[in-house]
Amino acid sequence: MLYGKENRDEAEFLEPIFGSESEQVDLPKYKLAQQSIEPRVAYQLVQDEMLDEGNARLNLATFCQTYMEPEAVKLMSQTLEKNAIDKSEYPRTTEIENRCVNMIADLWNASEKEKFMGTSTIGSSEACMLGGMAMKFSWRKRAEKLGLDISAKKPNLVISSGYQVCWEKFCVYWDIEMREVPMDKEHMSINLDKVMDYVDEYTIGVVGIMGITYTGRYDDIKALDNLIEEYNKQTDYKVYIHVDAASGG
Ligand SMILES: Cc1ncc(COP(=O)(O)O)c(C=O)c1O
Repeated sequence: MLYGKENRDEAEFLEPIFGSESEQVDLPKYKLAQQSIEPRVAYQLVQDEMLDEGNARLNLATFCQTYMEPEAVKLMSQTLEKNAIDKSEYPRTTEIENRCVNMIADLWNASEKEKFMGTSTIGSSEACMLGGMAMKFSWRKRAEKLGLDISAKKPNLVISSGYQVCWEKFCVYWDIEMREVPMDKEHMSINLDKVMDYVDEYTIGVVGIMGITYTGRYDDIKALDNLIEEYNKQTDYKVYIHVDAASGG
């Protein structure tokens, strides 16, 4: 029943969300306000801006990771304050990273004799940048050794047109010609009948994608590898694959 409360002290105020002084203030969108606002109000404003986007469970654009264990979120937030790049300051974090690199090498069946290396990145874009740079530099080394005039043409990268935009960035930043193998209705991942037409001695590498954001498909890496192995038998200008395994890795 509704009734007058005797002990009003107890619940006179609710924890206000918008009931604060900041509510009276217009906040500029594109510059810092003159006055500060309370952190919880700032949080609420930013959260409200993004209210109708970013639900991973409903968002096919993030088709790989639609759920994460709360413990993973907790661990991530507990490590936000670290400057993990400083390996000497955070030796235990470094050790965990090193274990992860070993686990992945093991998953990829790197042989005991092989000297593998790896690193954590803040996302696939950074991984693609590092992979792309490695391809460019090792191509240059091989090409120079074989006496190719490396300034005669731009080096190129072969990839299906279903690439993620970070590859476009890589090619712009590193002055690489991007050779797109077109996708069509019959080829919703890399077209294996056409891909080798795009390869020449200036090719720094062929990128296989697992998975393609637009179609949800995986490039057939094994078949691509067979094609490249065949090609490499017939030329000194060997070509290698980089797998952009953003979701399929
Ligand atoms: C195939 C592929 N490569 C690269 C990226 C870039 O990843 P990130 O957003 O983690 O930098 C994505 C992201 O969706 C992707 O799907």
